[in-house]
Amino acid sequence: PQVCWLAPEQTAGKQKPYMYTQGQAVLNRSFFPCFDTPSVKFTYSATVKVPEGFTAVMSATSWEKQKDNTFVFKMSQPIPSYLIALVVGDIVSADVGPRSRVWAEPCLIEAAKKEYDGVIEEFLVVGEKLFGPYVWGRYDILFMPPSFPFGGMENPCLTFVTPCLLAGDRSLVDVIIHEISHSWFGNLVTNASWGEFWLNEGFTMYAQRRISTEVYGLPYTCLEAATGRALLRQHMDATGEDHPLNKLRVVIEPGINPDDTYNETPYEKGYCFVSYLAHLVGDQSKFDAFLQAYVNRFKFQSITADDTLAFFLEYFPELKKKGVDSIPGFEFDRWLNTPGWPPYLPDLSPGQQLMKPAEELAELWAADGLNVEAIEAVDITGWRTYQLVYFLDQVLQKSPLPEGNVERLSKMYPKISKAQNAELRLRWCQIVLKNNLEAEYSKVKDFLHSQGKQKYTLPLYRAMWGGSEATRALAMETFSATAPQLHVNVQNYVKKILGLQ
Ligand code: BES
Ligand code: ZN
Repeated sequence: PQVCWLAPEQTAGKQKPYMYTQGQAVLNRSFFPCFDTPSVKFTYSATVKVPEGFTAVMSATSWEKQKDNTFVFKMSQPIPSYLIALVVGDIVSADVGPRSRVWAEPCLIEAAKKEYDGVIEEFLVVGEKLFGPYVWGRYDILFMPPSFPFGGMENPCLTFVTPCLLAGDRSLVDVIIHEISHSWFGNLVTNASWGEFWLNEGFTMYAQRRISTEVYGLPYTCLEAATGRALLRQHMDATGEDHPLNKLRVVIEPGINPDDTYNETPYEKGYCFVSYLAHLVGDQSKFDAFLQAYVNRFKFQSITADDTLAFFLEYFPELKKKGVDSIPGFEFDRWLNTPGWPPYLPDLSPGQQLMKPAEELAELWAADGLNVEAIEAVDITGWRTYQLVYFLDQVLQKSPLPEGNVERLSKMYPKISKAQNAELRLRWCQIVLKNNLEAEYSKVKDFLHSQGKQKYTLPLYRAMWGGSEATRALAMETFSATAPQLHVNVQNYVKKILGLQ
């Protein structure tokens, strides 16, 4: 299941086949013999011979093309097995910074270069300022074929990303900042077991938002964090707050695939816990210094949350003396071992200036008799993508809207209903389904045909399956047409949703 072989039709260029590997969480054991646990780290080298007209790339610190289409790779830093990755395809590259280039199929390379030219280096520099040296040499980005199941995958030296990021306006760059943040949290300091995945993802969400705050400012970053919080809300509503996966330290029984435990909790509840630690410290620059010391203390190691929290208390002895690990309601033990909504939420009110207008507009659209004058008075042409996303999340929450409102909304905002941006398309499709807007069901189908990202695919199948007979038929029809191009994991999750397995 680890190695995905794509036929030419499954690529952007549709000319040549393509293969890629995806290791996280425990798939690399079917690629090469290894201790396939994040608790073991090692260096590697690889020799890959490919047919004429193909290029091989790997998550390695150095690579060299020799004669006979043979590529030699070396990773000189110790990494866990899940970070080894290989792509062979008709791919080319273009420089976008002093230590960065983009890789893509020839038909996408111009767009890729345009989207990221000159922006990556700034993120790396800010990351180094906050968290210490970037130890991996290069930071390159590879745009994957449309069926790649993730937004991004932090393979060291070479992040893999979905081509959906080519939005044309750099609006989805938070994914790149997220993967860059893994260069410290995840790839340098690694969770020793998948049951403590929040150590990778929660710290990375925190680091991502620190970088974002430095580059784009607090209001915008709080807005992005609010959309993350909405995802956590949706997830906990769907599973019930008390679900055992809604704690940070998850028990993964033998025989359970860690991928099957994947959800928003390690990301967004993890983010809240790290934010809570920062709140206890009370001074951003002191907490930044702690993060840097933490990376330095545990770099190239695999650790547990106990190591993290013991180091935190050792680094701040005055907090240890105060007993901050056992404040009633906020015990570290409760954070780790009790499911449920985070006991502490970071203050996102600096984002209010961007969120408020979106909330008010959503209110107007949810009203029984539409106040068209008030709606027309709100000019959304200058709104950023995440402001529109936030608005749409609010509309979705209030859906189904009164009869006719969604049709009007669709007509009034082609910028939304005809969007090419994947985050907007996802929300629009969710709204279409929740409101049974049959006239636009084809958009759901088109979106699911155009890409195979898990976080877009599963919510839409869940919505279709939970809807009417017509949406169930749409689900079946779409799945039978697109299944062969989906990643096996995603295929299996959709089958489960549709009761096919
Ligand atoms: N490492 C993850 C992707 C992943 C997780 C792959 C678990 C396999 C198993 C990556 O860093 C990630 O979190 N990607 C997110 C980006 C988002 C949070 C900005 C994604 O793909 O949506
Ligand atoms: Zn991540």
